[in-house]
Amino acid sequence: MRVLGIETSCDETGIAIYDSEKGLMSHALYSQVKLHADYGGVVPELASRDHVRKIIGLIKKSLAEAGCTSDDIDGIAYTKGPGLIGALLVGACVGRALAYAWGKPAIGVHHLEGHLLAPMLEDNPPPFPFVALLVSGGHSQIIQVNGLGDYQLMGESVDDAAGEAFDKTAKLLGLDYPGGPRLAKLAEQGNPGVHKFPRPMTDRPGLDMSFSGLKTFAANTIADSDGSEQSKADIARAFEEAVIDTLAIKAKRALKQAGMNRLVIAGGVSANKRLRSSLAEIMANIGGEVYYPRPEFCTDNGAMIAYAGWQRLVAGETESLEVKGQPRWPLDTLAVIS
Ligand code: KG4
Ligand code: ZN
Repeated sequence: MRVLGIETSCDETGIAIYDSEKGLMSHALYSQVKLHADYGGVVPELASRDHVRKIIGLIKKSLAEAGCTSDDIDGIAYTKGPGLIGALLVGACVGRALAYAWGKPAIGVHHLEGHLLAPMLEDNPPPFPFVALLVSGGHSQIIQVNGLGDYQLMGESVDDAAGEAFDKTAKLLGLDYPGGPRLAKLAEQGNPGVHKFPRPMTDRPGLDMSFSGLKTFAANTIADSDGSEQSKADIARAFEEAVIDTLAIKAKRALKQAGMNRLVIAGGVSANKRLRSSLAEIMANIGGEVYYPRPEFCTDNGAMIAYAGWQRLVAGETESLEVKGQPRWPLDTLAVIS
């Protein structure tokens, strides 16, 4: 089965073609980063309009790269939610309309299920069950993944998502949007141990997280600093270490609670090199394994939507003719695929 995947939930237009026999045949991405940079964050209306401008061209490009036509596509998967409603509706309208015109089934995919399953596109995919640490710009969740569609929320951020905290702190440090990767780069120049940031909510039991206090702590530390490049780098380093340590403590706790030794990290923040190496070391120490997607599939992309959509289409799920976006959509309400 060959599936065309469409991702438009936020500021990236991602298109991909996944074939259940051949694997990923093509993928194309257009990032709106430059468009939103002047505003310091995503402007929803501009995002929707830019998806409209780019989506058809990218679909044509993906089909050409895969060497196929609409006749070779067996189903269309698009991100139905959660996300920005206007942006979601662009992908949903195009995906649903193409499926109707081509006479193929369509499926609306949950964006976070896409992120969770992204490591399945790699050579060494994680077997079920596992604990997943899903850390993106919009979500920070720890999920017990028992099987396809069988997702149990173990804990989540009670305020800012980890990626959001990276972005906001980066802004305080004078870095351009999207700040997460830029802050990580600056942190490489920082000296460890100059500042000691808190590890929020780790001194009490439970798997919920909180990151907004770290941003405030960073703001106060910046205000007390000399403003030099080195002190900015030192603050970036201390902030990054605090987020990673906190995530690692919670992930270890979740594995213990679930009685598992397999960890998946996914979502934009899982592209963070220090997070990847820190969790790899922890998992090696406890005799477990960690899985993550290649960096380009950590952040939003069409490949993860094509893959998740294929899993649901092959199980017989299809979408009605109604064009629908679902900006809020709890992950644990998805149908379990047996
Ligand atoms: O998954 P994603 O592309 O979009 C959402 O679904 O939210 O995640 C984007 C987030 C942004 O907050 C971005 O700053 C963060 O992931 N991010 C990083 C890194 N790369 C992306 N944060 C820290 N270190 C990175 N290397
Ligand atoms: Zn995402």
